[in-house]
Amino acid sequence: MKGGPVLIDGPVEVEMPDGSVVSSDRFVVALCVCRRSLTYPLCDTSHRRQCRVVAATSNDGERE
Ligand code: FES
Repeated sequence: MKGGPVLIDGPVEVEMPDGSVVSSDRFVVALCVCRRSLTYPLCDTSHRRQCRVVAATSNDGERE
């Protein structure tokens, strides 16, 4: 799906820019391409959220 994960055959090891390694031994691994995942570089389905949480506003437009 557009903006969704890239599915690749596992197991995988992903080397991050800081040199750390993230591994998964699943048969199919979903890699996050939206950058919203809390478990980046692995997809946690955060890409499914359509809207962002916004601060509540009063009737006069002031933030509460
Ligand atoms: S692609 Fe699924 S959380 Fe980013």
